[in-house]
Amino acid sequence: QHCFTKSSDGFLCCEGLKVQDVMESVEKRPFYLYSKPQITRNFEAYKDALEGLNSVIGYAIKANNNLKILEHLRQLGSGAVLVSGNELRLALHAGFDPTRCIFNGNGKLLEDLVLAAEKGVFVNVDSEFDLENIVAAARIAGRKVNVLLRINPDVDPQVHPYVATGNKNSKFGIRNEKLQWFLDAVKSHPNDLKLVGAHCHLGSTITKVDIFRDAAVLMVNYIDEIRAQGFEVDYLNIGGGLGIDYYHSGAVLPTPRDLIDTVRELVLSRNLKLIIEPGRSLIANTCCLVNRVTGVKTNGTKNFVVIDGSMAELIRPSLYDAYQHIELVSPAPLDAGKSTFDVVGPVCESADFLGKDRELPTPAKGAGLVVHDAGAYCMSMASTYNLKMRPPEYWIEEDGSVAKIRHAETFEDHIRFFEGL
Ligand code: LLP
Repeated sequence: QHCFTKSSDGFLCCEGLKVQDVMESVEKRPFYLYSKPQITRNFEAYKDALEGLNSVIGYAIKANNNLKILEHLRQLGSGAVLVSGNELRLALHAGFDPTRCIFNGNGKLLEDLVLAAEKGVFVNVDSEFDLENIVAAARIAGRKVNVLLRINPDVDPQVHPYVATGNKNSKFGIRNEKLQWFLDAVKSHPNDLKLVGAHCHLGSTITKVDIFRDAAVLMVNYIDEIRAQGFEVDYLNIGGGLGIDYYHSGAVLPTPRDLIDTVRELVLSRNLKLIIEPGRSLIANTCCLVNRVTGVKTNGTKNFVVIDGSMAELIRPSLYDAYQHIELVSPAPLDAGKSTFDVVGPVCESADFLGKDRELPTPAKGAGLVVHDAGAYCMSMASTYNLKMRPPEYWIEEDGSVAKIRHAETFEDHIRFFEGL
């Protein structure tokens, strides 16, 4: 069951509600529309897949940091994965259990590590200097920090280079050649650090579970080595990264169950607790960006649909050449011709496109047009470029009502940055 469906008369619906009707009930600007029940279903899919394992689902907050969504995921039983001091503060604000939170990153700051230490958040060690900072934070906080070593296993995730993180020349994690140095360093700080596990994160948009298995095999070998030196490590953290069907091609992609099943025996064989860090696969398909068509034009051999949304609201196509499925929210009149369009925004640069060469019925001015799978890395990467202020967010609740879950950013918000200077 998926939240976005077509009504019998051809309208795009979210949880049975026509998107067209939602558009008429909210302010006239691009907005993100989520399905709360779909978030629940996606989380339950992970929970069901993990049955029989001792596990923590650490939702990767970077994918979407809407506070209402975070509170919902926390209520469902999620932990959180954080990559900045403010993500850490937000997770605490949303009420996440700090001992189900993991602080990741290759440039964590001392002050943020101190907060993590005070609260009992797990911390991933990323480098020599990071270890020094974690030790310093433990001393300032007067608390021993539970740490995992982020190992860079050099497994190719077969994804866009910008979202690959676990190959040997990546800026993340530590290479196995240095493992012994880190084990010795942890041993020499028994009052500050407790080594509880090993972590890896290969990359994002991964569509083959064999990649996760290859990494997990390497990781349990490292854990064997670590345990052989007397460390009582309990946790294997295999990161996030499961991809989704952005193309809506009907291709059968691995599910959370496929992912967990491919590592289950390994995890059980070493009596480990499993941490996973999904972002995209929990939240991407629960949302679309709803836009209005401003007009249609032709230049040279290109047809353009110009919409009110843009790279400011949703930058993935511009930044990664990512494909996100696009469609109109209302059925086309029977006599409407189809053409091939680039779907573009009003932002003043040619990188501002949401989709290229899309076959669409020629839309009328004001028609609704959605960009699908916009729940992950869209709003959280939105900017105010060209002073396109960040859009509002709505979700449809279990009872079918529409609720605002984030206010629109306004011009006045921008002016406020200069008050009193
Ligand atoms: N854990 C770590 C350590 C990560 O670096 C990430 C994502 C995740 C978990 C969650 O990965 P996911 O399950 O969402 O694939 N902005 C890019 C994606 C960047 C992902 C960065 N790391 C995009 O829009 O595709």
